[in-house]
Amino acid sequence: MLCGSLDDISYNRAMNSPQNPFDTPHFKQALSRFPTGVTVITTQQMADANPAEWGHQFVGLTASSFNSVSLTPPLVVWSLGLKSRTLPSFQKVSHYVINVLSDEQLPLCQQFAYGEGDRFKNVNFDLSHQSLPILKGALAWFECRNRSQYPEGDHIIFIGEVERCGFTEGSPLVYQQGSFSGVQQLAD
Ligand SMILES: Cc1cc2nc3c(=O)[nH]c(=O)nc-3n(C[C@H](O)[C@H](O)[C@H](O)COP(=O)(O)O)c2cc1C
Repeated sequence: MLCGSLDDISYNRAMNSPQNPFDTPHFKQALSRFPTGVTVITTQQMADANPAEWGHQFVGLTASSFNSVSLTPPLVVWSLGLKSRTLPSFQKVSHYVINVLSDEQLPLCQQFAYGEGDRFKNVNFDLSHQSLPILKGALAWFECRNRSQYPEGDHIIFIGEVERCGFTEGSPLVYQQGSFSGVQQLAD
C-alpha cells in the first residue's frame, strides 16, 4: 500500500497503546522503517586516543546518520555514539572524510562497524587534500572541516563544513530494517 487511510492511522496509533508501550526496541523498530545510505567516516588517529592494535594512523566507522544541512555554506551532519572508541579522535581532529558506500561495498560497511584491530588493513584508499582516506570505489566523498559538535542524548552531533567533494556513477548501499540492499533490490 502506497498511502495510508484514516484506518491505517488509527491502527498505527494503536501500536503505541499501553499494550505496546513506547520503549527503546519499539523506537528502534520505528526508526528502522526509514531507509538510509551507508557511509564510512575516516580521520586521523589522535595520539593515545585509541587502542594500540587499531594501528597508528587512521580511525574510521560505519555511519548511517549522515545527511545534508545547508548549501551555502555547504554543511553536512552525522552523529557519533558516546561509547565509540573513535570518539576521542573525532572530537579533536580538524578534518574528516565522509565516504558514501556503493552496493558493492558491504564488506567495508561490516569491517568498519564490527572489525577489530586495524580497520584499514587490506583497504584500498587514496589520500585527500588533508591526507585522509578516501575509500576506493566510494560513490561519493566529502572532505569536511570539523566545524561544530553538539552533545545530545547518547550521541554527539557533528556538523562538517565541506571543503572538497567528489562522486562517481553507481548504486548506493541501502540500510533498512536491519538489512542491506541496493536501490534496485528495494525497487523489485
Ligand atoms: C549500518 C550501520 C550504521 C551505523 N551508523 C552509526 C552512526 O551513524 N553513528 C554511530 O555512532 N554508530 C553507527 N553505527 C555503529 C558503528 O559503526 C559501530 O558501532 C562502531 O564502529 C563500533 O564501535 P567502535 O567505534 O567503538 O569500534 C552503525 C553501524 C551500522 C552497521
